[in-house]
Amino acid sequence: MTQSKPQSKEQRLAKPLGKNATTDQIVELIRMRRSIRQMTGERLPDEDLELILDAARYAPSPENMQMMRFVVIRDDQEMKRIIADISQEAARYVFGNFPYEATQGRLWYLPDASRPSTYEEMRDGSLFRYPEKADAVIVCCASETWHDSTAMYPNELCGSVVVAMGVLNMWLVAHSMGYACAYQAVPFADKRHVEFICDKIGIPRTWTPIAAFCIGIPEKPRMLGPSRWPLEGSFYAERWGVPYQRLAFRNQKAKKAKQKSKIKRKKMKVQR
Ligand SMILES: Cc1cc2nc3c(=O)[nH]c(=O)nc-3n(C[C@H](O)[C@H](O)[C@H](O)COP(=O)(O)O)c2cc1C
Repeated sequence: MTQSKPQSKEQRLAKPLGKNATTDQIVELIRMRRSIRQMTGERLPDEDLELILDAARYAPSPENMQMMRFVVIRDDQEMKRIIADISQEAARYVFGNFPYEATQGRLWYLPDASRPSTYEEMRDGSLFRYPEKADAVIVCCASETWHDSTAMYPNELCGSVVVAMGVLNMWLVAHSMGYACAYQAVPFADKRHVEFICDKIGIPRTWTPIAAFCIGIPEKPRMLGPSRWPLEGSFYAERWGVPYQRLAFRNQKAKKAKQKSKIKRKKMKVQR
């Protein structure tokens, strides 16, 4: 048996990207991505949309089963309006009864002047009518029955995880091109709406629509926020509940310990 030569460090760390994209740029792209719900209703060039859609294909999936399907609604304005109507109704139901203070807290990052009007648009659901102004309303479908062995992946969420990974791929590519994207899950919260949409666009029983991912031309760019938990808020070290310590804190601790031992040594010198 011939043994292959172990890879050198340079080979192992070979960058899959050309010299134009740096890790910093990719991290920046991820950090700057936002949900942009104000769209103009204009169309994207077909080749741009295709590049975005194609990114979804590269999402990982168990055994590469690719249990994701996407219905791209572009020309059927009536269907877009139906999804917008359902979205608005569902959002009105969700946010309409929400206490102002609760939503205010979530919208803290907005300027004082625009917070009440955004809240009002959430309450009456109009903020969620955006599928009507999107160029592409992509109905994202997952299948939890697409597994070839029930024993292999006893995880009923596999299908939606795969779809989510595909959507994020599309989102990042679209964002890098300056397009607006938003993930609309509210129309699929009520089984009656799901049935209705499946019926209208022919989604079979074995597939479940989980979101309408919308892509369009942004009316205006969005400001940064809402912010995220710091790293130690979502990551634990070795055991649940033990905050993962960021390098900055670790370095600070090490620096303090070094300073302490220096002072101690100085003191000892003086004593001697
Ligand atoms: C599973 C899921 C469901 C979501 N549902 C909706 C939705 O129904 N409508 C909507 O406009 N945004 C929806 N969003 C987007 C979030 O509101 C948004 O990502 C979050 O507030 C953070 O804002 P950002 O995307 O601008 O960073 C959803 C996101 C996820 C991941």
